[in-house]
Amino acid sequence: MKDHYNRTIRYLRLSVTDLCNYRCFYCMPLCGIEKKRHSDILSIEEMTEIVRAAHALGVNKVRLTGGEPLIRKGILTLCENIKRIDDRIELSLTTNGALLKDFALPLKEAGVDRLNVSLDTLDEEKFRTITRLGSLKDVLDGLDAADRAGFENTKINTVLMGTVNTDEIADFARFSEERGYLIRFIELMPMNITKTLPKEYFVSNRVVLDTLPELRKIRDDGVSRVYQTERGGTIGLISPISDRFCDRCDRIRITSNGYLKPCLHSDTEISLKGLSGEELIDAIKSGVMEKPAGHQLDRFSSSTRRDMNEIGG
Ligand code: 5AD
Ligand code: SF4
Repeated sequence: MKDHYNRTIRYLRLSVTDLCNYRCFYCMPLCGIEKKRHSDILSIEEMTEIVRAAHALGVNKVRLTGGEPLIRKGILTLCENIKRIDDRIELSLTTNGALLKDFALPLKEAGVDRLNVSLDTLDEEKFRTITRLGSLKDVLDGLDAADRAGFENTKINTVLMGTVNTDEIADFARFSEERGYLIRFIELMPMNITKTLPKEYFVSNRVVLDTLPELRKIRDDGVSRVYQTERGGTIGLISPISDRFCDRCDRIRITSNGYLKPCLHSDTEISLKGLSGEELIDAIKSGVMEKPAGHQLDRFSSSTRRDMNEIGG
């Protein structure tokens, strides 16, 4: 499936809930968000049908996100359903890791191929300041459980923020060397809630290269550029602002209430709720054709009115 700019769309990111058990200050208000009506949220069956339709159009890579996907009832059934559509679909899941201790093995058994774990600090106290509800130990235990369950190539997503965690870049590099995870530093994007954050939080991923001059580039991996440390650790840089990757974008997103978002930063949304069969396929096709050439985050902040908990990154 090609979009208007000749990009092949093969990657679907599905937000299975906008709720979360953490309240990361750049993502969610401390008081949480209003719970949507059950009938407004896609059911597990509706999500399965959307993946089936997208797969018929050429999608072969699916990522489940949130909010926090592991608090969604039926998440394991959804994973099984997706693998039943075609077990060659590459199925991955992005989690904050809080519940991974209990979920790692069942996720593996349900067919999940890879995990991304969001982790912005390796310091227990700072972890609490950032997530406001979480405990670092839970996430580290979750990572251990994922290793034991047989997950490989686990990636860590670290949102880099000046004065918050830029002092931990070297610690994350050592963490990668010890544990074998790919650490991916992500530039903080100016979404709704982040617009109120101090300017110094917004830093370019260049700071990673300046801090670790030993890094050698080894490959491009989708939207991230991957580097290696001297002792074999791997660091990925996802730089939506300093290294705009829109021309390489191969993805579409679905929100938990069933809107297809052709671009993370655009306000264009197409409702898929209630559609099935040809209608659903046509709606996905028209969404793909509305995918814009790219964002303009270097000049303006994001045009989406949604926060990241609704879109899932
Ligand atoms: N900018 C960059 N990354 C963000 N995430 C959430 N909000 C933002 C933002 N404004 C990250 C989360 C998670 C991934 C899904 O997106 O930390 O790792
Ligand atoms: Fe939850 Fe992830 Fe948002 Fe943190 S960044 S509040 S873990 S959805």
